[in-house]
Parts: sequence; C-alpha cells; structure tokens
Amino acid sequence: MAGPEDFIAAIPKAELHLHIEGTLGPALRVALARRNGLPVPDVDPDADTQGYDYASLEDFLAIYYAGMDVLRTERDFYDLAATYLRRCRDENTIYAELSFDPQPHLARGIAAEAFMGGILAAVDEARRDWGVSSNLILCVNRDRPLDEAWPLFDILRPWRDRIVGFGLDSAEHGNPPRKFAEVFERARAEGYRLTAHCDVDQENSIDHIRECLDLLRLERIDHGVNAVEDPRVVEALIARDICLTVCPTFRPGDPGPRRLRRLRQLFDAGVRVTVNTDDPALFASGYLTNLLRAVQAQGGYSRAEIATLMRNAFLGSFATEDEKAAMIAQLDRFLESRPPQAGRFDTSPSSEGEVPERSEGDGGAVTNR
Ligand code: ADE
Ligand code: ZN
Repeated sequence: MAGPEDFIAAIPKAELHLHIEGTLGPALRVALARRNGLPVPDVDPDADTQGYDYASLEDFLAIYYAGMDVLRTERDFYDLAATYLRRCRDENTIYAELSFDPQPHLARGIAAEAFMGGILAAVDEARRDWGVSSNLILCVNRDRPLDEAWPLFDILRPWRDRIVGFGLDSAEHGNPPRKFAEVFERARAEGYRLTAHCDVDQENSIDHIRECLDLLRLERIDHGVNAVEDPRVVEALIARDICLTVCPTFRPGDPGPRRLRRLRQLFDAGVRVTVNTDDPALFASGYLTNLLRAVQAQGGYSRAEIATLMRNAFLGSFATEDEKAAMIAQLDRFLESRPPQAGRFDTSPSSEGEVPERSEGDGGAVTNR
C-alpha cells in the first residue's frame, strides 16, 4: 500500500497563501545579486530554503524585505515567479494564488511594468506549458501610510483584469484592519476579491478577525487561527463559508509544524481551513509537499482529511466557478483512482502525536510566525 508520503506528493494541490517574494530562494538570490552587480548575500546557494529562527513577525519581515532588494528587472521577476511555478508543476500543485507587494518595489524605484510584466509572463507560460494555473493578489502593506495605499488602484489599473484579489499584509502591530476599511470598500467596488492577514497571536488578533468579518466583510482571512478564542467567530466563519489560509510553517528550531492544535480544532469544527507555505524560501518547512507531509504526520490527518484540506483550498480559492469545478473534478478523479483499502494512514488521526507548540510564547520570546 502506498504510504502517506506518496499520496501527499501525488494528490492535486492548491496553495492560497503564498507571497511570491517569499519564494526567493538562496540560489536565485545569489544569481540575481551577481547579475545585477550587487553585493552577494552570505547564504548557501545549494540550500532549498534560508530557514532562519525568527523571533517575531517584525524580525521576519526585516529579512523578507532585505532579501527582495536583488529583484530589479522584469527578467528578475520573471525568474522569481517561473522558479516557483516550476516547483508547483513538480509537486502537483495545480493552482496557486500569488500575493505580491507593490509598495516596496515602487519605493525602490522599480516600475510596475517590471514586476507585473515579469510575474505575468511566468504565470502565462506556466498555464500554457505546464497546466499550472495561478492568480495574483495585490497586497497593501499595512505598516505603510494609508495615503500610500490609494494610488495603487491607478498604478495597477493597466493590469486590473489580471489581478484577482486584494489583500493586506506586513507588520500588524498598531495597524488593525479598520485602518484600511475605506480602501477595502474601494477594492470591493472595483471588483477585487478580498482577503487580509490576521497574523498569529498578534495584539488584539481576535478583534482584528472580527473587524475583517463585520467591518471589511472579507471572503477570506490569511492565518486567522486566533478565531478559536471566540465560538461566535467560529460560528460566523462556518455560516459564511469563510476560508482561513492557515500556515503551519516551522523554523529550524521548531520541533515541527506550528499552530497544529488550532488547525485541528478549526478543521474539526467544520471551518474551511487550508494549509499554506506563506514564504516557503524563508522557513524550514519549505514548499507545500514537505509542509503537508509534516502536518499529516504530526497532526494525524487521514487521507480523507488531507483530501478535505485540498477540497477546502479549491473551494476557498479566487478562481472562477468553472475553474473550481474543474479542479475539484481532477481531485475527485485522483481519489477514485486510489484503491479503497488505502483509506487511512497508519497514524491515528488524533492530536496525540502532536508536537507541543514552542510558542508563540515560550521563554518570554513572543514568536509570531
Ligand atoms: N509578508 C510576507 N509574509 C508575510 C506574513 N506571513 N505576514 C505578514 N506579512 C507578510
Ligand atoms: Zn502571509
């Protein structure tokens, strides 16, 4: 009988919470630094990921923004997106939503033509040559001034029909969703699909989730595992079919995937949760197959439950209804092709084998990743 590893490698997968700049791996970072005549970063170009032990979201973001400095030209952005989408092809990730951060690029003097042109060329090629579909999500950086968000609508207007979603990311402390309520109203009026980060264990996380539900009226929340703190929020997520794009990523010092207990709780309650890699080149958890294998093994997910996680991702995606139906049909064909005796993995689908979460709290160091 094929083991869980093969099943997870082979099942058609989707990823909804992925920052394209967070897929900039060591090899490409070094190559782009050389190509652009920039200082070559001190990273191991043979490593798959850079996997640092970040202590906080802010710590993580400092490295994330510093890394993207090597992205200068349209070709650089093409290489970035093509490298990630090739990885999707190799891992049977048939659909991915690529969040991108225009503001740091514009602030560095890079024209929208460069990042949009490069990313979209890779998106088109991946669909045509590999059958990997992807959509883009424009993310506003919540820690930048509100005034900087408004011009993005016009700057990106030439590509309006190529950007499906509108999101909110970066440092959350002191930057609640309500700061962007009017920006999100405009995005809704312009026809964008809406999502926002409510990162894990931030100050007022549960209030931020409530604001996303009731004030911004979003379709999706990125992370959002603090929802478990309020049964009424959990009920609302279920009643409104709101998808949480959970990222049980781990750093080198973590014993395994983080946020597993809350992922399981939300999954069992019937919330539409999904598993995502967030910034795969910057975590030890890496890309989707590797992360899902760890979540399956340590979170005790059966085959049927892994299939539900994937179905949740297709259903919660910003793809068209036709695309969703086609991807779900592909998932169903895959499941039908598997022998029935392969219904469960050997591991028991309970939380017993779960590793303790090295918080998000341990040793006084508040970790937000
Ligand atoms: N930017 C890139 N990754 C992010 C994350 N996980 N949270 C907030 N902002 C981000
Ligand atoms: Zn994220």
